[in-house]
Amino acid sequence: MKAIVIKKPGGPENLIVAEVPPPNVGEQELLVKVKAIGVNRADILQRKGLYPSPPGASQLMGLEMAGIITKCGTKCTRWQTNERIFAVVPGGAYAEYVVVHQNLAMPIPLNLGYLEAAGIGEVFLTAYQALFWLGELKRNDTVLIHAGASGVGTAAIQLARNAGANIIVTASSPAKLKRCHDLGATHGINYQAENFAIRVRELTGNRGANLIIDVSGAEYFKQNLTSAAIDGRIVILALMGGRNVDQVDLSPILLNRIKIVGSTLRNRNLDYRTKLTAEFTRNCLPLFKTGQLQPIIDRVQPWEEVAEAHRYMESNQNIGKIILELPD
Ligand SMILES: NC(=O)c1ccc[n+]([C@@H]2O[C@H](COP(=O)([O-])OP(=O)(O)OC[C@H]3O[C@@H](n4cnc5c(N)ncnc54)[C@H](OP(=O)(O)O)[C@@H]3O)[C@@H](O)[C@H]2O)c1
Repeated sequence: MKAIVIKKPGGPENLIVAEVPPPNVGEQELLVKVKAIGVNRADILQRKGLYPSPPGASQLMGLEMAGIITKCGTKCTRWQTNERIFAVVPGGAYAEYVVVHQNLAMPIPLNLGYLEAAGIGEVFLTAYQALFWLGELKRNDTVLIHAGASGVGTAAIQLARNAGANIIVTASSPAKLKRCHDLGATHGINYQAENFAIRVRELTGNRGANLIIDVSGAEYFKQNLTSAAIDGRIVILALMGGRNVDQVDLSPILLNRIKIVGSTLRNRNLDYRTKLTAEFTRNCLPLFKTGQLQPIIDRVQPWEEVAEAHRYMESNQNIGKIILELPD
């Protein structure tokens, strides 16, 4: 089969479509013909040689895809060939065929195509576990969502809106903030023009945010601490703004009883991912049918243009997802 491979770790120019051996299908696995792939920042890190697949997973890039089942392992009871599914996988989605554990496959809602479905899994599952499992979001809470126009951000806004939260987002441009507002954000902060921590205090009557979904890490750490309310939670999903922080005043953590938790979805065990997938399927997939949730797709490119897709994501221009389309 063909797959997108990394000639050598480095820039996007090292990505090419090449011939590789097809994957073996385990007893509990489905072989899926990939129709569309969602691009993720993790792919960029993997391309640079900084984020290898977890042990036992395909060493090819690719965390999510949508496609059609062409073969079911001998102990698969839940699926049949020719069903349309999408899934988050620990690796291997940048290929014509990928294996998916039967517990991690989700049916594509009838009103959605492969291109849209390929943009749901990674960002919605991540946002769902960050808001509800780790962040304990409740109705009327104020949630601060950083990088609101990102893939994860646009998913988190929609889920938080449906949960009845007040939503403050940060983003770098008026166009990004407008999109966040259209999706349900109550307030937007252009962090390049104003100090978000001061603005969050103003917007919440000095109470602060009950939950902060962070993807910056070091750059925002101090401001996040001063933006969090009493009993606030900070969920760190990425370290795009660095990993080392100097001279932090820890007193807000103590005095305001702030909980700080980090998480990556990719390295979670099968049991965790099975439970998350099942709960998301039950609670959220029906909302894609009614339009209360929607995949936010910035652009679709043929998979041969993967280098251009990576460059575009690295330039921070996308609002929502970038999708790679495979030929029929
Ligand atoms: N932990 C997990 O389980 C998990 C799962 C999925 C994704 N992630 C991570 O979450 C992050 C967001 O993913 P995504 O797919 O939503 O990305 P995305 O769609 O590519 O959006 C990323 C956006 O983040 C903003 N940004 C860039 N550098 C930043 C910095 N230093 N500080 C704050 N914001 C910055 C930019 O928006 P502005 O122009 O508005 O600044 C950029 O467009 C990535 O780092 C990804 O690897 C983690």
